[in-house]
Amino acid sequence: MGSVKVMACCRQLFLPHARALALTTKMASSVNIICCIRRNLSSSSSLRSSMPAWVIDEYGNNGVLRFTEDATAPSVNSASEVLIQVHAASLNPLDISMRSGYGSNLLKLRRDPVSLGQNGGEFPIILGRDVSGVVVDCGSGVTHFKPGDEVWAAIPPWKQGSLAEMVNLTEYEVSHKPRSLSHKEAASIPYVAATALSALVNAGGLCRNNCTNKRVLITGASGGVGTFSIQLLKAWGAHVTVTCSHNAEGLVRGLGADEVVDYTAGDMATELGLLEKFDVILDNVGGDSEQWALGLLKPWSGAKYVTLVTPFLLNIDSMGLLEGAVHSGLNLHQKAITNMCNGVFYRWGFYAPDGPALDEVSQLVDAGKILPVVEATFLFSQVPLAFQKVEGGHARGKTVVTVAQEEEGTGVTEEEGETSDTSEQVREEVRQAAPKS
Ligand SMILES: NC(=O)c1ccc[n+]([C@@H]2O[C@H](COP(=O)([O-])OP(=O)(O)OC[C@H]3O[C@@H](n4cnc5c(N)ncnc54)[C@H](OP(=O)(O)O)[C@@H]3O)[C@@H](O)[C@H]2O)c1
Repeated sequence: MGSVKVMACCRQLFLPHARALALTTKMASSVNIICCIRRNLSSSSSLRSSMPAWVIDEYGNNGVLRFTEDATAPSVNSASEVLIQVHAASLNPLDISMRSGYGSNLLKLRRDPVSLGQNGGEFPIILGRDVSGVVVDCGSGVTHFKPGDEVWAAIPPWKQGSLAEMVNLTEYEVSHKPRSLSHKEAASIPYVAATALSALVNAGGLCRNNCTNKRVLITGASGGVGTFSIQLLKAWGAHVTVTCSHNAEGLVRGLGADEVVDYTAGDMATELGLLEKFDVILDNVGGDSEQWALGLLKPWSGAKYVTLVTPFLLNIDSMGLLEGAVHSGLNLHQKAITNMCNGVFYRWGFYAPDGPALDEVSQLVDAGKILPVVEATFLFSQVPLAFQKVEGGHARGKTVVTVAQEEEGTGVTEEEGETSDTSEQVREEVRQAAPKS
């Protein structure tokens, strides 16, 4: 299956950062050599105690990313664990935020409740929330996977991530990778899929059996969560309206969006207000979106507004665990009550680990109903550049990092460290490949 290749801003992004790039490239080539040697040496990596990884030892800007040969290699420590050799990872906005310390109060506690209060006890942290790879070891209680299985997973933020040779997850978090995708393509999907499913199903009340004739609005539809959600909802039979920038219209229409509103063109709220009202709104943008968007829902019909941009972790970061949680709870409760009085539901959506949900996504992918949308691919040696790319915003799908050499070639043809261009040919490819409702 070919992946959707989308527009790029990477070459322009690199130009103003020529010095940083030169430095990173120098560092990258030595990392490359080390990684190649390492791979050739290790056939049974699960037995090793250290591994190559990108780690952070403190929170900060891109400068805190450090490559090491000696990160602690995970091993199977309990019956339900699955050890995966990472072939590809991808980045999400969360990686940029976590690098800067976002969510650290809660995540620290979740990682190691006993060391609560110890400053810096959580380091080194390995970022990267998506993995596509191969199982190398399993706990005695694992029933669905065996060594050699190709798998994919969305890694919970409190666990060590996929910018490393190995990652350790529980069986419940893992799913068999779609056969039709390369690892590079597969790595673009799990975290946004798990988030979209949690938001649309758990918070939005949608599922494959109830979407026919449902009208859904997705704001910020050109990024990772949006491009996945369009395809999922179209596969489930919903009518999908999206907001995005003008230059993303070809992409989102190619993925199946029925109506597209350019948020840069003028009064988006008025334009959306002229359309038939919605059953569900998935908000990927936050800010003042809810002020104008809640009125676009069908009142007294069970319609739901689900935002993925919540102040929950920020509150805990700034106020501490207890006060932050209470403040967030009161904030959500107050908004939920106010909106309930207006006949609509207001909810926060969160990523949730869910291997079985990824099984369903895997089937949709193999049926050609969901395509990976890979905007840019970087080598493992280029991780800082990948962060730079994601931090620049304006995503058109996902940014992937290849960690191990791919043997199969299934259609992602852009050069590593670069992105494909937005030629009409690419747009046509998107249209051709788009799932039919
Ligand atoms: N709560 C959770 O557990 C959770 C989990 C995953 C993600 N999230 C959050 O959900 C949001 C979406 O995630 P993502 O991975 O899809 O992010 P992303 O890949 O960075 O995509 C965001 C997209 O929104 C577009 N955009 C920006 N401002 C916009 C506006 N005013 N109107 C319409 N489109 C706009 C951007 O393109 P242009 O700027 O070029 O228009 C970009 O394509 C992020 O804020 C992320 O942090 C939350």
